Amino acid sequence: MFQVRKRVLVTGGAGFIGSHLCWRLLKAGHHVICVDNFYSGARDNIVDLMADPYFELVRHDVTFPLYIEVDAIFNLASPASPIHYQRDPVMTTKANVHGAINMLGLAKRLNIPILQASTSEVYGDPTVHPQTEDYRGWVNPIGPRACYDEGKRCAETLFFDYYRQYGLQIKVARIFNTYGPRMLANDGRVISNFITQALQDHPITIYGDGSQTRSFCYVDDLVDGLLQLMESPKDVTGPVNLGRPGEYTVLDLAQQIIALTGSRSKVRHEALPEDDPKRREPDISLAKQVLGWEPKVELAQGLEATIAYFRTLANGARPSPTGS
Ligand SMILES: NC(=O)c1ccc[n+]([C@@H]2O[C@H](COP(=O)([O-])OP(=O)(O)OC[C@H]3O[C@@H](n4cnc5c(N)ncnc54)[C@H](O)[C@@H]3O)[C@@H](O)[C@H]2O)c1
Repeated sequence: MFQVRKRVLVTGGAGFIGSHLCWRLLKAGHHVICVDNFYSGARDNIVDLMADPYFELVRHDVTFPLYIEVDAIFNLASPASPIHYQRDPVMTTKANVHGAINMLGLAKRLNIPILQASTSEVYGDPTVHPQTEDYRGWVNPIGPRACYDEGKRCAETLFFDYYRQYGLQIKVARIFNTYGPRMLANDGRVISNFITQALQDHPITIYGDGSQTRSFCYVDDLVDGLLQLMESPKDVTGPVNLGRPGEYTVLDLAQQIIALTGSRSKVRHEALPEDDPKRREPDISLAKQVLGWEPKVELAQGLEATIAYFRTLANGARPSPTGS
């Protein structure tokens, strides 16, 4: 990414995806400023980066303005798992809407590119399958997921208004389910949940009958996509879907994880949460066309790496900075 050393701001840099992104930017020779309020991030995710003189950590809440001099912004700050974003829904909307306003204001003042980590949740419970970027979504604006879904939708609106009104260089990535090392064990996301339960031989909790589908992208592939989007020509604003096509039912996934971990866990069904999407799969034709990007890591391969990470955690050790 970029030809010379740049100062790159990563908001939400102590989170799951953000910490991988910080690591990759440092490896590429950049100066990384990681901003996080540790709402759902973890110090352990970045502790190995702290010794690098080109890594700076700023404890800051993006709902407040930030005055800093940088050359590019990746805006990832937002709780991302339902457990986290529903714990304080007002704060979730603020992180997304006020956070976007503050980061866009900073990008405008400095006249620098800014990338928004949006989400497939902007499509809600989709009626079009697989989801293309021109599908406008089916979101319940008053349900328990709305703080996140509508917060991200409003952030996209702000990004495109700053683009049209001020000519700001924006990049909007719609990220689909991403998994890998450094997900939190207890944040209720399907892969981390299943692996944690399987490693303890506890029942695997499936909401509903398990026929709902998801697609899963390994974090290294996703970070490649974010970096390629940031590097793309000015006229590539997105929104661009970043995710791995290929649908798995939640039940398939549970069985695969049981097999890969050699677990004795059995499946236990519980009630489906409100507004849980039934199907979710990205159409990534646009990402292929404008970025030349597509994921490389197969699900089984990514699951092996993620399981290895959770095994290390279970043994009480702190995994290596790359998580591998
Ligand atoms: N992981 C996925 O599958 C996925 C899918 C779609 C979109 N995304 C988006 O990607 C981004 C990163 O997701 P993640 O999975 O790494 O989640 P995460 O919860 O691990 O990381 C988010 C980070 O943002 C920080 N944060 C939250 N509110 C903040 C605030 N007000 N000020 C400063 N920092 C704040 C958290 O402490 C955390 O470190 C999020 O914006 C999320 O919406 C993730």
